[in-house]
Formats: sequence, structure tokens, C-alpha cells
Amino acid sequence: MKKIAVIDFGGQYTHLIANRVRNLGVYSEIHQPEDFQPKQEPEIAGIILSGGPHSVTEPGHPTLRFDIADNKLPILGLCYGHQLLAQLLGGTVEKGTAREYGPADITCDQKSRLFSGFSTKRNVWMSHGDHVEVLPPNCRSIAFSPDLPVAAFESDCSRYFGLQFHPEVSNTERGMEIILRFLEFCTTEKRWVAGSYAEEIIERIKYEADNKKLLLLLSGGVDSLVALELCIKAVGVDRVCSIHVDTGLMRENESAEIISHLESAGFRNIKIVDAESLFLNQLSGVWEPEKKREIIGRLFIELVDAEIAGIRDKTSEWKLVQGTIYPDRIESGATRNSAKIKTHHNRVDAVKKMIERGMVIEPLKDLYKDEVRSLGRELKLPECLISRHPFPGPGLGVRILASSDEMPEPGYNSETEKLERILSAFDLAGLILPVKSVGVQGDQRTYLHPAVVWYKNESDIYWSRLKECSRAVINELKTVNRVVFSPYEKVSTVALIISDVNKQRADLLRRVDAEVRHETETLPDIWQMPVISLPAVDEKGLPIFVLRPVTSENAMTADFYRMDQKLLRSLYDRLGAIKGIGRVFYDITPKPPGTIEWE
Ligand code: XMP
Repeated sequence: MKKIAVIDFGGQYTHLIANRVRNLGVYSEIHQPEDFQPKQEPEIAGIILSGGPHSVTEPGHPTLRFDIADNKLPILGLCYGHQLLAQLLGGTVEKGTAREYGPADITCDQKSRLFSGFSTKRNVWMSHGDHVEVLPPNCRSIAFSPDLPVAAFESDCSRYFGLQFHPEVSNTERGMEIILRFLEFCTTEKRWVAGSYAEEIIERIKYEADNKKLLLLLSGGVDSLVALELCIKAVGVDRVCSIHVDTGLMRENESAEIISHLESAGFRNIKIVDAESLFLNQLSGVWEPEKKREIIGRLFIELVDAEIAGIRDKTSEWKLVQGTIYPDRIESGATRNSAKIKTHHNRVDAVKKMIERGMVIEPLKDLYKDEVRSLGRELKLPECLISRHPFPGPGLGVRILASSDEMPEPGYNSETEKLERILSAFDLAGLILPVKSVGVQGDQRTYLHPAVVWYKNESDIYWSRLKECSRAVINELKTVNRVVFSPYEKVSTVALIISDVNKQRADLLRRVDAEVRHETETLPDIWQMPVISLPAVDEKGLPIFVLRPVTSENAMTADFYRMDQKLLRSLYDRLGAIKGIGRVFYDITPKPPGTIEWE
């Protein structure tokens, strides 16, 4: 069967590219650049070079190991792949002064082979610092944006195509038609049909279980639930035991709700472990986001250990099952050239050691959340469980941002003037906040400051203008990776407080979160709405919170949700009535450059 080779330069979306190609009917496989020689595989009909966190301007950057002068196959380069292709064909790439993260408007040349018949203007998703400065010989630019003369190029021989943007993410308008057009240059054969996931996965679990009993950590989210149902189908209910750990970092009444839902759906053998004091004690005094994740993930494994008296030494009897999905793995730095954005709880060292020893089964590890949900429907799980908003394994532990006086010197003050200049064009004012949070830019982790903005004069809320503003601020300021909005009040001061994850903050966050859930959980378009507790106080000395409602297809990219103004007002009125809480900001950052969670 003809196939497309996707070369993995460590981009966050490499797997998604391969997934999209298959959905378009052509089989695809991911290869590492170090091992890839197209001549050895005659079925390869075309090559896609992925994005990645590296820069082709730096020595030792990952590259192709075959000589492009001998190449006869169509090649499409995306982001880093676009820059690498241009360089290999004789063009030059430079570090940009203008960086672009998130949405951008480009103009496409309809006379080009790649875009002919498509509309001239389209909104695309960018995430890059470098850009193609000089085109290779016999190539021409086929798309540009105000900041970027070469947003795409093609060669006269119709073999080489480069796109600075990401057609594979759903935020790029009609990105699939571009990928499809490229596939048409590669092959006319379209024979790939995805089979039934459920049957295939159940067979694999049976094989991997190897007659052992299965133990599953059940968070109550759709991933662990679908994994549980698949395990029951594979080895029978009596050989599957699940543990739900109440970490003290769950949302209000969440553990009780999960258990009652599960019991009414007929699940058995669920054990609840109350571990609030264990988790809070170990998190005391810890402020680095990755350290918090490491502790939480390790404690989960220690509890599993204790539960079955040392699972690590009982390899002959038990295997651990995790509901890990693909984005958990890639963000944790799963592939050779990818950067670690954050360590998901199911990828901490204690778990990795068990994986190396063959003690872990991860039936969903190649799937995205939307695919897990379809699988759940195929398995006839109740819709109320399938469509629950995602909630991360480490729970509120990530959403309670901690801080310390060891926190690196911000150095952000120097950009305040620049911020004011950018905001004045939008009739907004703003401040750079003293806290920091994790983001993702150009396939790399960032740990930078948010800026808060507000209208100088009373105004209706114009979400699209706010989106433009957030984009301009993040692209131009080097110390800012998020923008939040204060809808109804100006902000005069925000002060950092030294704080960790503790019961008092968890309880207050639970109250705010419960109000937010009450008002918004049934809104159909929201993918997820984290509420975040900042280690900062407002001018009255009260703690500050952030709302992070997002729309998304698979959590690899996301956009902020544009809430109806009446609903927003009523939500803020409800929150204003909670005693002891200060300002509430609304996050207006897409992913990238933000992530969905704050930590
Ligand atoms: P980010 O913040 O990386 O999140 O944009 C993407 C999706 O992953 C969820 N998330 C996690 N889920 N364990 C999980 O099971 C984790 O450690 C974890 N960290 C983030 C997040 O809620 C979002 O849906």
C-alpha cells in the first residue's frame, strides 16, 4: 500500500499530521529523521517534514540523512520542516524580529499549484520565531502575511512545498484541503480505512494482560473510564480492580459524584482511597510546577503499591492500566526530538520505571480525546460520563499556582512601557503580572508572565479586538506568554504573595470553581473551563483568580471561549458574592502560546 512518511522533528503536532493523512484515506507512518532512508521503502509516495522545537540556524539541528539532490518524491515541510526544506534546497533562514504565535491572516496565490481553486485569504495557525529569508533557487513564495513575506513556497518542479503555518490543526481554516492537495501530488491511491478501534484494542489488552490481574487508577474522567470498560471487556470484571484516589485536590463533591455515576453505570470493584493529608503534606512548601507534578504522580504510584502490597514486586500477578492519551505523552517529551512542555501525571519517573519493566498497559496511548469519546460511545457508556469536561490527573494541584522568593527575577518591568504603547491602539490599559505560568511557543516550553488588560473607558466587550490585542502583546513582548482580561474593573496593583498548595487555597478554589461550573458546565461549546488560583492579591489584599474557558477539538490547540455578555455579567455577579475572593480575570490566550491549564 502506498504511504506517506511523516518525519518527526519533535513537533507537538507530528502525530496529528499522521492522523490527518490517514483520515484522508492514505496510510501514513512516523519516522525519526536519524533513521529515515526513503530508498529502502518503495511504498513511500511522499514525505512530510514536521515542525519542531529546534532552529535550523543553530549547529547540530536535526536534519534529513538522505541527499535531497537524489530525491524524486514530493516533500511538504511544515513550520520547522518548511525552514529546513528551504535551507536544504539552497535558501536561507533567519531568526525573526517578529515572532508569531496563534492565529494569522495570510494571502495565498491562487496561481500556485498548492492553493489553486481555493480562496485567496485564510486564517491560519502559526507558532514560530525563525522565518525563510531567501527562497531557494527555482522556488517562489505562494503566500504572505503582513509580517511574513514567505508564509508558503513551492518549487517550479511541483515537488517541494513549504508552509510556515500548521494546516494540520483545526484552527487553520480548511487546512485539510491543503493536505489533501499535497497528497494528490503523491498518490491517487486511497485505500486506508480505519477499523473498529474497540475490537482491536480489546484484543491488544488481552494479549498484554498476559493472564494477570489489572489494576486501574480511576480519576473519573473519560480516559480512565473508557480504559476500564475496555479492560473489563478484555479480561472480565473479576480480574479488574480500580482505585479512585481522593487527593484533596478534586473539585467540590467530585469524588462522590464519580462513584455514584460509576455505580449506577454498573461498575464494580472500585476502591476509594482518602489521601488528602498525604498529598497536601508532600506539596507543602513546593512551588515549581514540574516538582508538584512529580510529587503527585509519584504519590499515585506509592498508593497503588500500598494497595496491593507492592505491585512493583508482584509482576507475576498484576499489571497497572493507565488511561494515558497521546497529548499526555507528547507534552511530556515522548519523542526523540520533542521538548518537554510539562510532565503529565502518568509520565513521572516512578511510572516510567514501571513502563520499562513491562508492568503498564496503556490502551489509549495513540488516541486523542475526541477519539476516546467516540470509543466510549461505541462501548455504549452513558453520555453524561463521556461528555464530562476533561479534568487533569493532578487536579487542582496544578491550578493552584505556587510561588517563592526564589522565583527567578522577573525582569518584566522593562516591558511595561511597550505594553502600554501596544494597548493604546485598542483603547485598553494593562499591567504585566508578577506571577509566572507555563505556556508553549514554537514547540518549546515557556515559563513567563501574564499581562492583564482592561478597557480605559466603559465599553461593551469586543472579543475579536481582544483577541487581536492578546496576539499583539504576546508576539511583541518577550516576557509575556498569556493575556488575561478584567471585564468590569480597572486594576491598580497586583502583588505577588509567597504561597504553596494548601487546604485553605484548595477550599477557596473549590468554592469559586463550583460557582463557575454551576453557571457554565452545560454550555455546549466549552471544551473545558479551568479556574486558577494565583499566588497574588489585589489592591484590597484579596486573592486573585483566573477563568480559562476554552474551545478545542483535541486539546493540542485551543482558543479562548467568547462568553455571551449577559452570562458573563451574571457569572461575575455570582463570583462577586463569594466572601474573601478578589479580582477574577478572564484568560484571552489561545494555545499556543498559552496552554489550557495554568501551572
Ligand atoms: P494543556 O494544559 O497542556 O492541557 O494545554 C491539555 C489537556 O490535558 C489535560 N492535562 C492533563 N491530563 N494528566 C491528565 O490526565 C495531566 O497531568 C494533565 N495535564 C494537563 C488538560 O486538562 C487539558 O485537557
